[in-house]
Amino acid sequence: MKVRSLLCLGVFLAFCPADAEPFANAGNELDPVIEAKIDALLKRMTLEEKAGQMSQTGKSGKQLPGSVEDEIRKGRLSSFYDVADVEQRNALQKIAVEESRLGIPLMFGFDVIHGQRTVFPVPLGEAASWDLELMEKTARVAATEARALGIDWTFSPMVDICREPRWGRIVEGAGEDPYLGSLIARAKVRGYQGNDLSAPDAMAACVKHFAAYGAPEGGREYNTAEVSLRTLRDIYLPPFKAAVAAGAVTLMSGYDDLDGVPATGNKQLLTDLLRQEWGFNGFVVSDWASVEQLVDHGIARDKAAAGVLAVTAGVDMEMVSRTYIENLPRLIREGKFSQEILDTAVRRILRVKYRLGLFDHPYTDPKLQEKVILSAEHRQIARQAACESMVLLKNEGNLLPLARTVKSIALIGPLAGHRKVMLGTWSTGAHAEDAITLLEGLKNAVGNGCKINLANGCDVDGTSTNGFAAAIDAAKNSEVVLLAVGESEKFNGESHSRASLDLPGRQHELLKAIQQTGKPMAVVLFAGRPLTINWAMENVPAILLAWHPGVEGGNAISDVLFGDYNPAGKITVTFPRAVGQIPIYYNRKNTGRPELAKYIDLPTTPLLPFGFGLSYTTFKYSNLKIENPEVTIPGMVKISAEVANTGAVAGHEVVQLYVRDVAASVTRPIKELKGFERIYLRPGETKTVTFNLPTSDLKFCDINLEEQVEPGDFKVWVGPNSAEGLAGRFELF
Ligand code: NOJ
Repeated sequence: MKVRSLLCLGVFLAFCPADAEPFANAGNELDPVIEAKIDALLKRMTLEEKAGQMSQTGKSGKQLPGSVEDEIRKGRLSSFYDVADVEQRNALQKIAVEESRLGIPLMFGFDVIHGQRTVFPVPLGEAASWDLELMEKTARVAATEARALGIDWTFSPMVDICREPRWGRIVEGAGEDPYLGSLIARAKVRGYQGNDLSAPDAMAACVKHFAAYGAPEGGREYNTAEVSLRTLRDIYLPPFKAAVAAGAVTLMSGYDDLDGVPATGNKQLLTDLLRQEWGFNGFVVSDWASVEQLVDHGIARDKAAAGVLAVTAGVDMEMVSRTYIENLPRLIREGKFSQEILDTAVRRILRVKYRLGLFDHPYTDPKLQEKVILSAEHRQIARQAACESMVLLKNEGNLLPLARTVKSIALIGPLAGHRKVMLGTWSTGAHAEDAITLLEGLKNAVGNGCKINLANGCDVDGTSTNGFAAAIDAAKNSEVVLLAVGESEKFNGESHSRASLDLPGRQHELLKAIQQTGKPMAVVLFAGRPLTINWAMENVPAILLAWHPGVEGGNAISDVLFGDYNPAGKITVTFPRAVGQIPIYYNRKNTGRPELAKYIDLPTTPLLPFGFGLSYTTFKYSNLKIENPEVTIPGMVKISAEVANTGAVAGHEVVQLYVRDVAASVTRPIKELKGFERIYLRPGETKTVTFNLPTSDLKFCDINLEEQVEPGDFKVWVGPNSAEGLAGRFELF
């Protein structure tokens, strides 16, 4: 046992290579003035008050021994996870500041996952924009609205890499790639936190769920993550590391069991790696009751043991369960537990409260919200983000964009007039009536000159086909058909794993029935995960993947359908042909017999590869140049290619750079994304895209589990997705 844990520690120590990026965010350096204030406060705090600072609750206070108000008064609460109302915040805060012995302010957290009142596309959709600036901007808008509503802290970004589309929470992350995931993690942290956490347009980020929560076995929520140390380091950890380097002030521990040690009780993860190696000086909050769940995991015999385990591992604040406050003060008094661990945790929490400015400005001005909530500017950004998130999956015969002269459209499907589908999961701060449906968006776009024949056809997940006849009629009586199908907001998100990735209910049959009419048809597909839409990909001429696009969804979809916006999104997760192919991801290993590592009943290739997405125009890639094909480590490889817009309309293209380390001390993926650029080209225009690839970006965990760049041959591709591209080579010495 001892040998094993030492071994693991050694492995984790290897996370800190000699040339590791220094802790990048200057704002995260310790402020001696704040530290001195914390010293003074700690001296005055009782053990109960310290454990109280480590306790978070919900507004119902269900699990508390007394009323919420009493617990605050006694200094036994530090934070709420679900208050998003200024009056309520200020009332609770008043008790903390004016009626508790030390007047320590409360900190209000909330799940602001993809916007607060102005809801943006779900994260997996927004990631498809590959637009980092946009993603930072939407986080800033979310922070501005949330802070005006009295929210100091969001439980976002979720940076869990996910290769498991059955898992409902794939929708909350950026997809399957660690490089892109790291850049998005950084953009989100910057967007939420800005340069000054106390500013009115900033809030504390919480990077979650540390770690490997996105790898649940079988895709089942809260399940075991069986991940090798190498895969953990190369694939699952990089976005967390990037977020910490960007200055994230809090992290959330996951629900998962990681190699026998649940993340919430995992000291190697939460202390050895996070604090000692990465230099994180913020605090870690558990997930909802995940501390007491250490008993259910079978790693603690009772709640007291669970609390001791979690706090010793490095969980500073306990969400919902009460193992800390109910046990730690007593155990310390009995001499069974160290007060020092408590002090360290409280210091980290107070540090964030000070940085948020809560001691100086504990209350939220109720007038703030009027100016910012759902402002015209925020709605405009939401429309832009929704447009950029959309992915054109197919467009045979240039069916799209639709001509403005169209006189009749059949809008068919259970999601045609659906409001909540626009918002998606985790839109707790949203008001459904704010969302523009597809029907409303279309009406806004076409005005009175075009008749919209609406027919539901079927429910999202019912069994009835009674509506088919009316839908077929609507199709027959219209020039063109739009089919709004897919997942409603209830089909993905937390605890919404699916064993099938087909269109729910009778929607697939509805598609087939409408296709029989022979009318030109385009599918608008709503989803929060990859779906097995093989039949549609073969038989429907046009498919636009709209995800759950946010409050401006209906308008944005219409912008794309009528060509006011030329779609440029690219999927950041592989779409399988069948559930039986899972796990399927682009950066897989080659194996020793690649031609035989296959199925007898299905191709091994995916339905749609990572990075894929079409445009209303066409792009031609040419002239790949490796300017310095022989590079000494450390150094920089300069790779360029020309991209031309060969179609008739202007558009954006996400130009992608992939590499393969041909022979190394351990097997390496067949392709890895190492760069991208989102460019805009007018018809006939050509641009040269240049990538400066530092050799340090080619690091991986070598045979000794140490991060190294190894000399040798590399293949390189520049192309429109992970399956196509111009190929070249370079060599490192
Ligand atoms: C549980 C979820 O796993 C987590 O992501 C969320 O932030 C918390 N509940 C709080 O709502």
